[in-house]
Parts: sequence; structure tokens; C-alpha cells
Amino acid sequence: MKPDEIDYDNLTFSFTETKSMYVSKCKLGEDWKKGQLIPFNDIKISPAATILNYGQGLFEGMKAYRTKNNEIIMFRPEENAKRAANGCLRLSMPEISESVFLDGVTNVVKDNIDYIPSTEKGALYVRPIIFGSGEGLGVAPSSDYTFMVYCSPVGPYFKGGLTPIKLIVTNDYHRAPLKGTGGVKAVGNYVPGMLPSGVAKKQGYAEVIYLDAAEEKYIEEVGAANFFAIFGNKLVTPNLTGSILPGITRDSVLFLAKNELNMDVEERRISIDEVMKADEIFCAGTAAIISPIGSIRYKDNKYNFSNGEVGKITNKLYNFLTDIQFGNRNDDYGWIKKL
Ligand code: PLP
Ligand code: COI
Repeated sequence: MKPDEIDYDNLTFSFTETKSMYVSKCKLGEDWKKGQLIPFNDIKISPAATILNYGQGLFEGMKAYRTKNNEIIMFRPEENAKRAANGCLRLSMPEISESVFLDGVTNVVKDNIDYIPSTEKGALYVRPIIFGSGEGLGVAPSSDYTFMVYCSPVGPYFKGGLTPIKLIVTNDYHRAPLKGTGGVKAVGNYVPGMLPSGVAKKQGYAEVIYLDAAEEKYIEEVGAANFFAIFGNKLVTPNLTGSILPGITRDSVLFLAKNELNMDVEERRISIDEVMKADEIFCAGTAAIISPIGSIRYKDNKYNFSNGEVGKITNKLYNFLTDIQFGNRNDDYGWIKKL
């Protein structure tokens, strides 16, 4: 789609084709090299590729913003590079280097600059993917790998932006086991959530809350976002046990709560029963930003939080974080990369 054909006033979190994408290839046992931009198009792949048969692949998600001064900025993209590199190791793929990862991301953003909305309307969502593109019949790492980056202008992940969402706790499904791949962005982590999330949406909920796979008692995540609960001046989030994705928004929220709002911050297990006593709860991620949670359905009960409104501290954290991300506040922590 051409940039001037897009309805920027009504962006949702959905895919819109842009001008170009980035591609680099690598063989098992070799190092990644910088790739190149090509027009956005379908790709050719063998039906025997390990990504198609065994899910050998991962993705990343990040956003480029257009500031009020018309500068283009990104938020902590080096952290996405690190997480992708860890994921490569867990999924037996050649470890992506920070320089190649950032080369792909920055080139795609710059070449698709005309697709970046103003921050009141949305952002350019940047999607790096790394996958086994070589053939393999036995369950073993592919001989060939592809790193691609594409992008899409997006609006809010949850309808209504900063309005509290309704969630339901599932006792029928788990997101990830303790020693599995929940801690990296393996593509295979996401398809199991489509069924529970689809059922929840039909029932009027925005997403599902997953409990831990071992005891089914402790909060793991909200779909594709990390979970937070506030008790007075204390912010609690599940500790990174291995099954939970180490969110970059999560890390930033914890840092801001501690250093800017002088909150006590705890990373520990938090049971669903304890959550019901929280003053405010929210979830956070690149797509979700900070989304306040207004109510939770758990078994036969419905629990309301902050009278269905945006909690005071949640609101403060949202403003602090987005002021930095949107370039409206000084970047005291070196989180912003100008392109
Ligand atoms: N949890 C899961 C399962 C995710 O897919 C994401 C999205 O990337 C997050 C949490 C939030 O991570 P981040 O803040 O780095 O986007
Ligand atoms: C993100 O927040 O970037 C994510 O990866 C969520 C995505 C699965 C939509």
C-alpha cells in the first residue's frame, strides 16, 4: 500500500504492507553478515524448511515513533537484539549479532519512513524474524537460516487504547512449561494461545491470563504481555522463572517505578489469590504498551479493580514511559535511539 492510501486516523494492530523489507542469509556454523533491502514481497521457501515443519524460528517486536519535532526514534532496540541472540541459541540457530540485527531494523525503518504515523495516531511496528529456511526431514537444526525485517504502521493493540480491559484466567491451558521455550520469542509459543484467546474474545474478554504449568496457582503472563500488580506503594511482577518472556517494557516499568516513582519493586511469584487483593493491575509489552486491567474473571467469580477506571499509579507509569518512548521527555537513561 502507498503511504498516502493509509487511514492513519483509524489504525489498529493489524498488518499493512509497506515499501520494503530486509533480508540476510546465513549457513549453520557461519556468522551472520549484513543483508540488504528488497521490495516487500512474498518469499520462496521449500516445503521441507525446518520453520514450516518444526517451528525452528523466532520473532521480535519493536516500534519506531515519529516525535513532535518529526524525529524518528526507537526504544531500547539493543535489548531486542540481545533477546533475539539468546533465542537463536535456544532454538539451535546461528546467534544473530547486534550489528546485523540493528542494521536490518534501522534500514527498514529509514526506508519506510513515510509509513510512520505521528505518536498520537500510532507507531511503525517493526518485526524482525529469524528462521530455519533450509530443508530437513529429521528433527535437527537446518543447514540454512534467514533473517528478515518487515514493518507495518499500527494503532493500539487492545481496542480503546488506555481504557481498562477485561481478562479471564484460564484453567484449561498453559502458555509455557518451566524448562521449555517460554523465555524466548519462539514462534511455537504463540499458536497454542490462539485457541484460548479466540474463545475468550468471543466471550467478551480482551485476553487470557495464564497460570503456571506446575501448580496452576501463580500468574505467568497475559497473552503476549507481562503482568503487574500494585499494592499501595509496591509494584509486584512475576519473576523470570524461564517460562516467562523477559519483556523490555517490563524491565523499563520496573526501573521507572523504582527510580522515578520511588516504589518498592518485587519480582517474585504472585498467586492469583493474592492478585485479587491488588489496588491496581495492568499488563505491559511493546504492542500493549501499558494496558490497565479493569476486571478479571476467575472460575465463577468476577473481580473488579480501580472501580473499572485507570488506576492512579498505572496512569503515572503510562505517562512516564510513553513520554520517553514518544520523545516528549528527556532520555535520562540512554533508552532512545535516534535514526
Ligand atoms: N510476553 C510475551 C509472551 C510477549 O510476546 C511479549 C511481546 O514481546 C511480551 C511479554 C512483552 O515484551 P516486550 O515488552 O519486550 O515487548
Ligand atoms: C509485542 O508486544 O511486540 C509482541 O510481540 C506481541 C505480539 C505477539 C503481538
